[in-house]
Amino acid sequence: MSTIKEHLSLDHRRCDEIFATMEEKASKSLEEAKELCQEFISQTERHFQMEERVMFVEFETKTGMTQGPTQMMRHEHTQMRALMKDMLSALEDGNKDRFFGNSETLMILMQQHNMKEEQMLYPMAQQHLNADSDRIVAMMDSIIVE
Ligand SMILES: [Fe+2]
Repeated sequence: MSTIKEHLSLDHRRCDEIFATMEEKASKSLEEAKELCQEFISQTERHFQMEERVMFVEFETKTGMTQGPTQMMRHEHTQMRALMKDMLSALEDGNKDRFFGNSETLMILMQQHNMKEEQMLYPMAQQHLNADSDRIVAMMDSIIVE
């Protein structure tokens, strides 16, 4: 089984790929990018929930650090959720400028956010939660977003 760090990092790559394909499609036709945009949002939402409902909770319980990095990441998730919502609504309105404005901002935020997680939080989490790694990965795997 993969580690917590590997599992979540790989999931970032997967979401990044959907995002890139969506942007490529949108440059040709906004209409055709809609489905990929919804797919990107639901996969990213699932990723956020694997962290918020499982990994962050385990990390906070184990370390007692509830106001530290996980709090900052939760805050950034909120910002990204708002941007994703706005991006989809721009797409539904057929507003190309607003769509690309949003997707650009989102991509920058997402890259910085993912880097912080992969370089700081995931290694810390792996270190503190190593003994429970398999159980936590299995719990993250079982997350279903309605
Ligand atoms: Fe995150």
